[in-house]
Amino acid sequence: MKEGLEELRKKANTELDSAVCREELLAIKTRYLGRKGLLTQFLRKLKDVPAEARPALGQLSNVIKESLSRRTEERLKNVGLVKKDGILQEEKIDVTLPGRGVEYGKIHPVTRVSNEICEIFSILGFNVVEGPEVELDYYNFEALNIPKDHPARDMQDTFYVTDDVVLRTHTSPVQIRVMEKEQPPIRIISPGKVYRPDSDISHTPMFHQIEGLLVDKGITFGDLKGILTFFLHEVFGKDTLLRFRPSFFPFTEPSAEVDIQCVMCHGAGCSVCGQSGWLEILGSGMVDPEVFKTVGYDPEAVSGFAFGLGLERIAMLKYGISDIRLFFENDQKFLKQF
Ligand code: PHE
Repeated sequence: MKEGLEELRKKANTELDSAVCREELLAIKTRYLGRKGLLTQFLRKLKDVPAEARPALGQLSNVIKESLSRRTEERLKNVGLVKKDGILQEEKIDVTLPGRGVEYGKIHPVTRVSNEICEIFSILGFNVVEGPEVELDYYNFEALNIPKDHPARDMQDTFYVTDDVVLRTHTSPVQIRVMEKEQPPIRIISPGKVYRPDSDISHTPMFHQIEGLLVDKGITFGDLKGILTFFLHEVFGKDTLLRFRPSFFPFTEPSAEVDIQCVMCHGAGCSVCGQSGWLEILGSGMVDPEVFKTVGYDPEAVSGFAFGLGLERIAMLKYGISDIRLFFENDQKFLKQF
């Protein structure tokens, strides 16, 4: 029987030593020392033992009971510590690691070009104004001398919202909105989004234009040439050659398109300028008397000029970008370069 007790002590000790958590230790304690535990069961058998052997066995079992209790308590203490160590290890923060950097946004290349052009015209005394992108047919076409069913409407495909409402196809309707409200002298510049159902390497259904309008007494085509020359030299450099080419717009007469010498080949001819050596940059002209009449100005008393240009095209030429769609893909690798 003594051997049985020793055996039991040994087994309990081994189990206590290899237990890895509090729950396991408590279960072992109950299994051996509990009211129905192994040691208790052992003691019940004591009554079958000869009387003279009982005291010694009783004493031994008390010693075992005490030592197992103590051992359990000790293990309970350090199993907690070991667990805490584990958590500390797992949740350790290395304060010497470099921090996560804050990413700064960049100004979009189209916005940069828009800001730059607005600044140049601000120096010349032009005010920046904006107009709606969802526009009445009246402002986008009618008041600009483009009546319904007029062949000039075919110059620009249009997104129609209803019969009378369109997504503006150009920024020119802002000319009408300003002249309706104000009297000359007028000097405005108006950047914004415009829409046309086109999509390829050089067209997106939404793109940006900037419109300019100057109206005063005695404004001539010479003023148009002077201002646009100053402007294009500011943007592309003083040495850039310009070409004013006769053109047609229903709302200007006479009209001119302005070309700059190709910024890629400097006039020699390349794929960007279609071998011509020139790049078409803007549309312009003297405000048509019909437009003045529509807004209630006297075409005998005042005159003026207007111009419009695409901002993506300017940005593409300035930064050497070959596909217009890159502007609107929001690829950080592209946008970060500016
Ligand atoms: N609105 C014209 C276009 O989109 C450009 C233009 C503006 C031409 C002003 C003349 C005067 O093509």
